[in-house]
Amino acid sequence: MLSSSSSILKTVSLRSGRNWIRHGTVTTAAAAATATTTNIRHGTFIKRTFSFPAPKLFDYDTIVKNLKVEDAIESVEQAFGALSKGKVDVPMPMHIGIEESAEAGPGDCHIKGGYVFGAKTFTVKLACVSFYKNLERGLPPGSGVFVIVDAATGAPLAICQENRAMTDLRTGAAGAVAMKYTTPLEGNTIGFIGCGAIARNMARAAAAVRPQFQGVAYGLAGADEFAAQMSEELGLPFTVAESAKDLCAQSNVIFTQTTGANTVVELDWLKPGTTIIASGSDQPTKQEIPNNVLKASKYIADLVKQTSKVGELRGPIQAGIMTEEDVYAELGDLVNGKPGREGDELIVVDLTGTGAQDAAIGQVAWEKLNNI
Ligand SMILES: NC(=O)c1ccc[n+]([C@@H]2O[C@H](COP(=O)([O-])OP(=O)(O)OC[C@H]3O[C@@H](n4cnc5c(N)ncnc54)[C@H](O)[C@@H]3O)[C@@H](O)[C@H]2O)c1
Repeated sequence: MLSSSSSILKTVSLRSGRNWIRHGTVTTAAAAATATTTNIRHGTFIKRTFSFPAPKLFDYDTIVKNLKVEDAIESVEQAFGALSKGKVDVPMPMHIGIEESAEAGPGDCHIKGGYVFGAKTFTVKLACVSFYKNLERGLPPGSGVFVIVDAATGAPLAICQENRAMTDLRTGAAGAVAMKYTTPLEGNTIGFIGCGAIARNMARAAAAVRPQFQGVAYGLAGADEFAAQMSEELGLPFTVAESAKDLCAQSNVIFTQTTGANTVVELDWLKPGTTIIASGSDQPTKQEIPNNVLKASKYIADLVKQTSKVGELRGPIQAGIMTEEDVYAELGDLVNGKPGREGDELIVVDLTGTGAQDAAIGQVAWEKLNNI
């Protein structure tokens, strides 16, 4: 018996186990949150009511106030481990180009998602970037939401108006995982080339896994402000380098997070035993690390299928001096036990940002925000 007399009736096949043999009758109102239906299963009539609550909405301020990079590290580390075992579904990102017109754009919308097998939630992320005309409106050029979905029911649980904050956190968390497996426990001097939003999350993440270090900053802009802010926030010494070369001479760990228009280090600037954690390149137009540095390194990718297209690995592959065979490991392989740092080799960790990290931060966000 149907609850809504105005509903149009139709018969559908319901998937059951391996067979498509069961039939039921649903209302078109099933597309809405609530409906009642009567299914016929092996001749038995089963009355079933289904109803999903509306997803919770978490605004930007709530997210920023309650989520820290430290919250995400363990979950992101586990997600990398699962990723390298093939236990994360990370579809290729989708892109919608918003052409400039009197009514719209210009701008870009990127849609990414991921599911770590066995997790309670999966995540779909919508990031709008490069809406430069917003500046004339007094608005930022970027915005975005994460939709966190119940993996058992497929029902959206939450919409997080994160405007990039959750992406920055999961990127910092990946930096922490890279540090954990490729740097000494103590005595690190960490250089930050590029001193913007990602650099701040990398510094916080580094402090979560290596609580004592000396920081050195270099950027085309904002290095003084970055050094002062991080020093106060983390209670660690930060200085500003005169040049990228000067920074390399002082540092055994180098985080690069520039906009990727130019390479920012040179091979003969680097000390033995240096770890470079590069995250600025996430598009095929960007490159921060020169091909000869990559070739000379023990090269570790977050996800080879991405770094070979939009990360640092793209450059040396195109130049014909490296192939995917030259990849030492994916970051998740280190999580799963492959040795990271073994001696004074040069290590480059190439972070392009994966759907596994998005899925991980989505799960963390749901656990934390749902309980406040
Ligand atoms: N890998 C990932 O998962 C991931 C995630 C988010 C953003 N990103 C990328 O990270 C990069 C940085 O993002 P952001 O939000 O911190 O940007 P931002 O604009 O806040 O900061 C970039 C900084 O780099 C500096 N810079 C640019 N070119 C430089 C150069 N040649 N030498 C020294 N400093 C230079 C700028 O002065 C600025 O301080 C972008 O390319 C962004 O697309 C990557």
